Amino acid sequence: MTFSRLPLVLLLLASWPASGEVVATAASPDGSLAVEVTLDADGRPGYALTRRGRPVIADSRLGILLANAHKLERDFRLEGTERRSADSTWEQPWGERRFVRDRYQELRVRFVEKPPRSRRLDVVFRVHDDGVGFRYEFPAQASLTRVEITDELTEFAVAEPATAWWIPAGEWNRYEYLYRRTPLAEVGQAHTPMTVRTAGGLHLAFHEAALVDYSAMWLRRVDGERLKATLSPAAQGPRVVRDAPFTTPWRTIQVAASAGSLYESDLILNLNEPNALGDVSWFTPHKYVGIWWSLHLDTESWGSGPRHGATTANARRYIDFAAANGFRGVLIEGWNRGWDGNWFADGSEFSFTEPYPDFDLEAVAAYAREHGVRIIGHHETSGNVGHYGPQLGAALDLYARLGIDTVKTGYVADAGGIRAVGNDGRERYEWHDGQFMSRHHLEVVTEAAKRRIAVNPHEPIKDTGLRRTYPNWVAREGARGMEYNAWGDPPNPPEHEANLVFTRMLAGPMDFTPGVLSLTGRGGRKFQSTIARQLALYVVIYSPIQMAADLPENYAKYPGPFQFIRDVPTDWAQTRVLNGEVGDYVTMARKDRNSDDWYVGGVTDEQARELGIPLVFLDAGKTYTAEIYRDGDGAGFDKDPQAIEIERRPARSTDTWPIRIASGGGFAIRFVAPAD
Ligand code: NOJ
Ligand code: CA
Repeated sequence: MTFSRLPLVLLLLASWPASGEVVATAASPDGSLAVEVTLDADGRPGYALTRRGRPVIADSRLGILLANAHKLERDFRLEGTERRSADSTWEQPWGERRFVRDRYQELRVRFVEKPPRSRRLDVVFRVHDDGVGFRYEFPAQASLTRVEITDELTEFAVAEPATAWWIPAGEWNRYEYLYRRTPLAEVGQAHTPMTVRTAGGLHLAFHEAALVDYSAMWLRRVDGERLKATLSPAAQGPRVVRDAPFTTPWRTIQVAASAGSLYESDLILNLNEPNALGDVSWFTPHKYVGIWWSLHLDTESWGSGPRHGATTANARRYIDFAAANGFRGVLIEGWNRGWDGNWFADGSEFSFTEPYPDFDLEAVAAYAREHGVRIIGHHETSGNVGHYGPQLGAALDLYARLGIDTVKTGYVADAGGIRAVGNDGRERYEWHDGQFMSRHHLEVVTEAAKRRIAVNPHEPIKDTGLRRTYPNWVAREGARGMEYNAWGDPPNPPEHEANLVFTRMLAGPMDFTPGVLSLTGRGGRKFQSTIARQLALYVVIYSPIQMAADLPENYAKYPGPFQFIRDVPTDWAQTRVLNGEVGDYVTMARKDRNSDDWYVGGVTDEQARELGIPLVFLDAGKTYTAEIYRDGDGAGFDKDPQAIEIERRPARSTDTWPIRIASGGGFAIRFVAPAD
C-alpha cells in the first residue's frame, strides 16, 4: 500500500507529537508551575511544563548524541525518582539586590536503558515559582566513562504561537547583533537568552545557568514553535568531551506574567553554585573613566605614533579628572606593545607586560594610587588565546604588584576565529562560546581571583550567572554597547536598550559604557539618543562597574547632567521594574546599597511616551528630595536631543508622577532620603 492510501487516522497518529506516559511530576512551591516527565512507547524521555494548568511547553524531547557511543535517547525505563525542597536566602557581595531567595522543588529522575546497554542517565529538574531549570547528570558507570558529546537533543516546544526577540547564533559578529522581533515560528538559530511573549501574554526566556567546562547552547527552530538545543562547535571532534561523573549546565525556562517580572527573576543566579572564592570584599563596585572613547572616535590611536592615546601625560590627565569627580577607575587601552599593524587580524604581537615607550606604567600606577584612583588594566588578545595564555600569569602578577585590581580583557576575532594551540602544538580555531573558551574564561577568572583582581571580558562567552560562584567576574560585554554609536553601521537604534533589558540583561551585568553626553560619534555623526537617556542607562543597564565613557572635555560642557553621573551608585540593595514592554520602554527603581537613596531610570524607543510613575517604593511617611533629569520640552533623538530639564521636588510614597519621555529619550531621578 502506498503512503497516500494509509487511513487518515493513521497519518494523523504518525504526525502527532509523541505524548508519552507521565512517569514523574514536580510543582513549584506556590503550585503555579508544574513539570511532567514522560517516557514514550520507545522509551524516549521527554518533559512538558504547565502554568496554572495551562500548557507552556508542550511535550519536548530530552537526550544526548554521542561520538564514541550509541546515543542516549531511547530504550529507557524509569529506575526511580528522588525529591527534595529547599528554601534559603543568600547574600550577594554586590548586585542588583542584596538578598536573593532561592526556593524550589527538586525532582531527580533516574533513567536506565533496557539491556543490553543498561546505561544510566539522570535528569534533575528544579521548579521555582519564576521558572524551571533542568540538567543532565552523568553518573560514574563502567560502560560510559569518557563522554564525547556531538549534540544535545533537548527541545523546548512552546505551546502557543508567540513573538520572539532574538539575535542569530553562529554568525561572525558573535553576540553583537541588533535584536530582531519576529513570530517565534520565524526564528532561525538564536543565542540565549531568547525572550518570547506568547499569544496569551506570558513572557518566557530560554537560557542556561552555570556554563562550566561545556559548550554553550544555541537554539535552533525545528518547526512551528519547537526549538532545539544545539551546542556551539569545537574546532576538532566532539563539541564536549568530559569524564563521568559530571553534570551539564542547567537549561532554563523563565516564566513571568509581565516583562518586568521576567527581568526580576533570580532563577539564573539561583541555579549557580555559591561563592567559591570566600571573602571577596576586596572588589569594590565603582565607576570609571578612561582612554577609550577617543580611540573609538579615531581622534587618538591604540597604536604608537603622534596620535597615541595611552601616553603618560594623557593618563595623568584622566587620573586627575577621575580624582576630581570621585571615579575610582581609569581604564587605559593601547598601553602595551602590539597594537601597530593589523592587531584585529592577528594579535600575535601583543605583549601583556611591556608598555609602549611613551607610557611609564610604573609612574602612572603610582600617580593613580597617590590620587586615590586605580588603573583598570587592559588585555586585548584579538582572540589569540594561544598567545595570551602563556603570558597570563606574568601579566596578572604585574597588575597585582601595581595595585591594578580590575582588568578588561578582549577577544576581538570573528566567531569561530579564536586561535588556540592544541596538545599536539598545532594551531586550531575555536568558537567564542565552545567548551575551550568556557574553560579559558574560568582559568582567567580564577587566576585573577588568586591575585584579587576582577575581570571584565569583551567579546566574551555569554553570562550564565557564574558571578555567583566567582564574584570577581564582575561584568562583560556580549551585546552591542556604546561603541556602536561611534562607528556602528547602523548605529544602535532607539529601541536597542529597551530590547537589551529584557534579553541580554537577563543573563547578568553588561559593561555597556554609557554616559556619552556629547551624543556624537566618529566624524560628527549624531546618536539616536537624548542626553537624559544617557543618564537613565546607569539605572537601566546594570553593572557593578560603570563607565563614564565621554571625554573629560565633553563633561566640562554639561555640568548639570554630569552631576547625576557623579552621584549614581553602582551597587544596589533592591531593584524593581516599575513598568515596561520588551523593545518598547522600561522604567526601573533601584535602592542604593550604601544609603537610603533611590534612583529611577527610564528609556523609551522611537516613540515619545507619557508614563505615570508610582513612587510606592519610597519609605511611607518620609519626604524625599527628588533631583529630576528629564527630556526638555521639544527634545527628541532627532531634534534638540541635548535639551534637558533638571529640577528638584519633594517626593512621597503616595505620589504618582507623570513623566514625559521624548522620542529616543529617557529620564533619571535621584531620590535623596531625608536625614533621620
Ligand atoms: C572591543 C571592545 O568592546 C572595546 O571596548 C575595546 O576598546 C576594543 N575592542 C579594543 O580592545
Ligand atoms: Ca565589542
